Amino acid sequence: MNPIRAAVIGAQGRMGTQAVNAINEAEGLELVAALGRGDSLDSLLEHEVDVAVELTVPASTEDNVRFLVEHDIDTVVGTTGWNAERLDRLRDLLGTHPDTGVLIAPNFSIGAVLAMHFAEVAAKYFDSAEVVEIHHPRKLDAPSGTAVHTAQRIAAARSAAGLPPVPDATELDPDGARGAVIDGIHVHAIRQLGMTASEEIHFGTSGEALTIRTDSFSTSAFMPGIITAVRAIGDTRGLVHGLENLLDL
Ligand SMILES: NC(=O)c1ccc[n+]([C@@H]2O[C@H](COP(=O)([O-])OP(=O)(O)OC[C@H]3O[C@@H](n4cnc5c(N)ncnc54)[C@H](OP(=O)(O)O)[C@@H]3O)[C@@H](O)[C@H]2O)c1
Repeated sequence: MNPIRAAVIGAQGRMGTQAVNAINEAEGLELVAALGRGDSLDSLLEHEVDVAVELTVPASTEDNVRFLVEHDIDTVVGTTGWNAERLDRLRDLLGTHPDTGVLIAPNFSIGAVLAMHFAEVAAKYFDSAEVVEIHHPRKLDAPSGTAVHTAQRIAAARSAAGLPPVPDATELDPDGARGAVIDGIHVHAIRQLGMTASEEIHFGTSGEALTIRTDSFSTSAFMPGIITAVRAIGDTRGLVHGLENLLDL
């Protein structure tokens, strides 16, 4: 079988550098282009790229992905900044390119993706549920997008199962010790030097508790997810939002 001809856009960045190495080491993949800022996307056409991996910055990603879809190149996107409006525009564009697939993956960590999936499965069995995320202190936003998404999925699963609100008698909390509340689920953010990205999901009911924990220690955590996506995206069409949709869960 011919190798998948892959390109990395943002190849000099933290993620891009690792993705270049991961693709070079992956069986069945061939790196045919590695572009940085200022390199023309037109060169991708000369290299007959099958799959592009987009790991740039929020200001560049939408233009890059538009170019790729307009040239029917399947694309795996890790760059943040894909809000609902951008996703809608991309969905519309993909509607006019029915043979092309794009994955927008807010989190390439397979551990984090599985933790969210397990949490969704567990949610209906436990009265109490809370999320704790731990990140390096350079992170600008809190709570993390993954923690928000986890809370939303737990809340949706509880709601589908007809569970009442989580039990909580707190009346007095002047300093916000109970954390943020996302769709009724309390979310706590810790900023800790030495950590990269971790998440704990705590469930409890009478007499028992379940804790699901995932830790990413470096950007290498994201490479198995990227390689999985590069292998799978050629078999998909349209917009795929979230790596979980390409895993056999
Ligand atoms: N989905 C996930 O699991 C996940 C995990 C980690 C990070 N991320 C996201 O992935 C993105 C990249 O992260 P990073 O840590 O690698 O950032 P980074 O180190 O800042 O790398 C971004 C790279 O993209 C380059 N670039 C910017 N615009 C470009 C363009 N139009 N064409 C080609 N290259 C361009 C930048 O060049 P200059 O330096 O010249 O600007 C830089 O080399 C961020 O949005 C980050 O939040 C996602």
